[in-house]
Amino acid sequence: MGSIIVLLSGFIIVNSVQINYILVPQAVQNNSHQPIIIDCNYSLRPDGTDLVLQWYLNEQKIYHWVPPNKPQALGLLKDRLDLNFEASVDVLSRYRALKIENPTVDLAGEYKCYVSTSIDEDFATRKLIVFEPEKLFFLNHSYEDAKTVNFTCVVADIYPEPSMIIYTNKKEKRLDRILQPIQWGTSKEQNGRYTMTLTASTFIETLDAGSVISCELRIPGTSYSKRKTLLYYPLEMRSWNRGPIVGGSYLHVSILLICQGSIIFL
Ligand SMILES: *[C@@H]1O[C@H](CO)[C@@H](O)[C@H](O)[C@H]1NC(C)=O
Ligand SMILES: *[C@@H]1O[C@H](CO)[C@@H](O)[C@H](O)[C@H]1NC(C)=O
Ligand SMILES: *[C@@H]1O[C@H](CO)[C@@H](O)[C@H](O)[C@H]1NC(C)=O
Ligand SMILES: *[C@@H]1O[C@H](CO)[C@@H](O)[C@H](O)[C@H]1NC(C)=O
Repeated sequence: MGSIIVLLSGFIIVNSVQINYILVPQAVQNNSHQPIIIDCNYSLRPDGTDLVLQWYLNEQKIYHWVPPNKPQALGLLKDRLDLNFEASVDVLSRYRALKIENPTVDLAGEYKCYVSTSIDEDFATRKLIVFEPEKLFFLNHSYEDAKTVNFTCVVADIYPEPSMIIYTNKKEKRLDRILQPIQWGTSKEQNGRYTMTLTASTFIETLDAGSVISCELRIPGTSYSKRKTLLYYPLEMRSWNRGPIVGGSYLHVSILLICQGSIIFL
């Protein structure tokens, strides 16, 4: 029992510096010229001297500050920081944060705040995602007969790698049903961005009038998401065609789809 108490109090005394939290925006847009602040809030005990604060990005040192000197930006962050930014009036916390003037994809990754004193050290890490919105995003349909329909969703020139699903639901019932993917592929362009194609197929008879077919695009780890939708209505077209009907099922079933305000007849 006695030894446990000694161990515990020993632990507390050694803890002369402690990181309370590290603040990193969840996701930022590439090259948007919107400054971001990456902050590291720590508490120091009076016995902690010789404070050194360092930041690492993906294990590469990018920042070094020894109060009361001015901080230094290194490596990837050289010339990318506002070195006059003050996160606190406290002289031992003043330059603890990074103010990145224009975050770009090369500055994405794991940020590590590393604080040390003469007797102790602490560190904490947090991930920053830098994304590039897509250049193109659409949902198409194609069919050969009156039985099945393919829905193809394409997103082009997005970063990082997105996720996509195609699903349907009936407007009134909000029950989503993921349509079975039959083909998919992702390619990485030379500029580092991704292009993804997903095709899902369903029997037309499984779609109800008023079904909404949606393709949902997401960048994992961020709140970035977009949706394209098609609205399905069966349409009896026989009466439109006064001519002879060729082939039994030819005009028995047709589909009316409204795609972002435009109407498509199949
Ligand atoms: C991010 O922005 C930079 C600067 O405009 C650009 O050169 C780079 O291609 C972009 N990265 C991606 C993955 O789009
Ligand atoms: C740092 O965190 C502590 C504890 O959470 C808080 O009391 C303090 O206000 C914070 N300091 C700054 C400058 O944000
Ligand atoms: C799909 O839709 C896009 C945009 O609406 C169009 O540019 C493209 O040609 C269509 N592709 C196919 C295979 O129908
Ligand atoms: C549906 O997609 C599959 C797989 O890509 C393809 O083999 C088939 O021809 C497509 N059907 C239609 C009607 O586009």
